[in-house]
Amino acid sequence: MNETLRTQHSHRSIRSYKADPVSDAMLDQIVAAAHRAPTSMNAQDISLIVVRDAEKRARIAELAGGQAWVAQAPVFIVIAIDYHKTDLGVRKAGQAQIIHESMEGFGVAAVDAGIALGTLITAAESLGLGIVPIGGIRRNPQDMIDLLGLPPLTFPLVGLCIGHIGDDMPLKPRLDIKTFRHDERYDASGYAAAIDAYDAEIMDYWQKIGNKNGISWSSNLGNFYKQVYFPQVKPVATMQGLLNDK
Ligand SMILES: Cc1cc2nc3c(=O)[nH]c(=O)nc-3n(C[C@H](O)[C@H](O)[C@H](O)COP(=O)(O)O)c2cc1C
Repeated sequence: MNETLRTQHSHRSIRSYKADPVSDAMLDQIVAAAHRAPTSMNAQDISLIVVRDAEKRARIAELAGGQAWVAQAPVFIVIAIDYHKTDLGVRKAGQAQIIHESMEGFGVAAVDAGIALGTLITAAESLGLGIVPIGGIRRNPQDMIDLLGLPPLTFPLVGLCIGHIGDDMPLKPRLDIKTFRHDERYDASGYAAAIDAYDAEIMDYWQKIGNKNGISWSSNLGNFYKQVYFPQVKPVATMQGLLNDK
């Protein structure tokens, strides 16, 4: 296995960071890797907001629902959908942009944001740093928009903590790979058994790491997916001009 694959195969989210700063050289390389990542139609419909200011990180930790590791990690990168940038190009071409009002537009920007996130993760982990993605920034999106000075046609989709690893974590088990990889044709026949096995395995994992509040994968998803857990996304995205009605 090569170094890149070794890095990817050893991914685990880190929620404990040392106070040591991430050097400018490291941060520049990580951001440049994501800048090089592909985007649909070369739209480059994504912007990163790099937050190092401790007060701002403390505020984001709060807005994300009290996630202490956001305040602790020295770097927090927000990945924002940026149809403000593309709108300037479209206007220059004498056209009126409407893609940001469509499901296609939100979906494609979310894919591009995901590619940027994955690229940041691999780059940071390849340097021996720890990371954890933070979807919790969508809990209070308007406050995030105000804090970061994001203009209309943008939306803060996901964040990423980066820092030197404090307490390390063992790899979290996954559902059987047969529920993930389908050769030639989708096959859900093994799902129920795989979920049963995984629910038991994840309980063992919680025990192993001393998490007494850990619950099964099914119960955890049940608690979240029975509701729209970040209900401010739709109204705030709409106010930003990302109507999602086409
Ligand atoms: C898009 C995305 C958003 C996430 N949001 C959060 C978050 O807000 N807080 C958090 O502690 N972990 C968050 N995570 C981390 C997941 O909980 C974690 O990746 C998952 O439990 C698997 O664990 P592992 O990364 O250690 O393998 C997020 C992960 C992704 C990909």
